Formats: sequence, structure tokens, C-alpha cells
Amino acid sequence: MSEFIIAIACDHGGYELKELLKKVIIDKGFQPLDLGTDSTNSVDYPEFGEAMGKVIESGDAPRGVLICGTGIGISIAANRNPAVRAAVCHSGLAAKLARQHNDANVLALGARLIGVETALDCLDQFLTTDFEGGRHQRRVDQLGG
Ligand code: RB5
Repeated sequence: MSEFIIAIACDHGGYELKELLKKVIIDKGFQPLDLGTDSTNSVDYPEFGEAMGKVIESGDAPRGVLICGTGIGISIAANRNPAVRAAVCHSGLAAKLARQHNDANVLALGARLIGVETALDCLDQFLTTDFEGGRHQRRVDQLGG
């Protein structure tokens, strides 16, 4: 597993934002692992959330980014895999706290609900913030996975 690989997946509602975030991920020195979808043609988000779960569980990527219209459906799908702790974030602060307190390993974004600047802020916090451990480790352990 490379610490530098960031898996990324979306449905049709998140395709355009995915393409932008892939470039930003590269600019930040990480390597995107693109799990699709590959166009704005309508698809079903559970498939892509499940694909994210598989790469997180296998260790092929330590972290991932999911995007759908709201971030909700695709995060629910990914969180069905116990290895995933996906957090839907609508602000950079939420993404920062998801890392610090929840050790979130997947960031979920709603492309139809947040603007590009907020998405970039979320991504930046997600990629640069460490888990605080301590009392939060005990709670994360209780989540299983
Ligand atoms: C697709 O139209 C939309 O339902 C999906 O992107 C997502 O918002 C579901 O949670």
C-alpha cells in the first residue's frame, strides 16, 4: 500500500468535480486511483461506494474521496464495508474534525450542495490533517472495522 494513493469514485452527479479533484490530488503530490464513473451518463451510486469499500479494505488505497449529488447515497454504500469510515462534509472544518476525531478514511462530498471552493477546502483538510488519537482512538475502536 502506498500512503500516497487516494482512491476516488463518483456517480454521474459527481463526475465533473471528480475530474477537478483528481488534478488537485496530483498537484498535492498524491496519486489518484480512479474507480469511475467515467462520464455524466446516469449510473447507480451503490456500485461506486462498494468499489471504494473494496480498495480501502484491501489496502490498495489508505484513503479515498467519494462524490455524488449529495454525498449521502455513495457514503452510505461505502460505509456498509466495516473498513470504511466515510464522512460527508460540507465545510473544511467538518473535514478537519472528521480526520482529527473520527479518523475518517473516506471523504464524501455532495457536488450539488457545495461549491468548488468548499470542496477544495474539504479535500485539503482531509489530506493534511492527522488523527488525534487519545480518547478518540477508544471511540473509533468501538466502531469496529
Ligand atoms: C443521483 O441523481 C443522486 O440521487 C445521487 O447523486 C446522490 O445524490 C444520492 O445520494
